Amino acid sequence: MPSGRRGGASAKVAALRAAPSGRNGTQRVAQAPPSIPAVPSGNLVEVRGLATVLGGKTIFDGLDLDIARGKVTAIMGPSGCGKTTLLRHITGQRLPDAGSIRIDGADVPRLPRQALFELREKIGFLFQNSALLTDFTVFENVAFPLRQHLDLPEELVRNIVLTKLQAVGLRGAAGLTPAELSGGMARRVALARAIVRDPMLILYDEPFVGLDPIALNQIVKLIRTLNDTLGVTSILVAHEFSAVTRVADQVFLLAGGKVAAAGTPAELARGDSPWTRQFFGGEADGPVPFQYPAGDYAADLGFPAAGRA
Ligand SMILES: Nc1ncnc2c1ncn2[C@@H]1O[C@H](COP(=O)(O)OP(=O)(O)OP(=O)(O)O)[C@@H](O)[C@H]1O
Ligand SMILES: [Mg+2]
Repeated sequence: MPSGRRGGASAKVAALRAAPSGRNGTQRVAQAPPSIPAVPSGNLVEVRGLATVLGGKTIFDGLDLDIARGKVTAIMGPSGCGKTTLLRHITGQRLPDAGSIRIDGADVPRLPRQALFELREKIGFLFQNSALLTDFTVFENVAFPLRQHLDLPEELVRNIVLTKLQAVGLRGAAGLTPAELSGGMARRVALARAIVRDPMLILYDEPFVGLDPIALNQIVKLIRTLNDTLGVTSILVAHEFSAVTRVADQVFLLAGGKVAAAGTPAELARGDSPWTRQFFGGEADGPVPFQYPAGDYAADLGFPAAGRA
């Protein structure tokens, strides 16, 4: 990977760190205190006391977690535990009821609108369904974020897009339409689009769903390679523990609105807690209830509730 890309990502990290509350990007960079290091370390994302209630249901109940800079962190947990919601909190698409989500020090829920837009430009999001524009070619799908936000010369757009397509192994497919792609190819095109603006953070929401073992392994390899060569931080929501084991440095298992277990994939695989035993053992019974929270069953069926006269 060209060193310029790594430099580009680092420069953007530095620019974002430097951001005070200015209204345009140029001023923000110009105001950077000289003492801020160009290549910071530690956590890129820090979630503290996150509380979220959706449709009357508590999704997060004082969630705390740290996403280490430059690493691949997997978020796992039972369906409906709030993994996608957490990603939406990180991008500022959904506001929590309480708590903070700091990205490079900036508290996302409290960012002014313009600063939030600027932050979002540094985040690449790979949606579960790839979400490609069906009437556009592969090339135009990847070029879309560049054309939408920047006024770049066509030759530069072409070079950036072809570089990203080359990185995911699909430069030769630039002229195809989404209908002509396999599921694995579509996922890779979506990945090229997610990295086209050199993000500092890439979010993957269930990138392995519906892929055959070959395509799945290609995505696993790409997540790791892109993370390391682009110098980014990756957050991966996935259910496939074998894939997570191969790609993630750190895993958080969410359940009951909090972190139920955290550690390296090897540490979680040991299944030391009832949560990890149920989740990684795929057991139907355990701390994760089968039933979605509901009112009294007998009353719902129109019978007198147990214990009532
Ligand atoms: N806009 C909304 N209004 C009300 N409830 C919502 C809304 N969005 C999500 N929920 C609820 O929040 C909970 C968490 O949803 P979320 O999509 O984050 O789960 P998830 O962990 O990503 O699940 P899955 O593994 O199935 O994708 C679910 O119970 C869902 O029904
Ligand atoms: Mg989800």
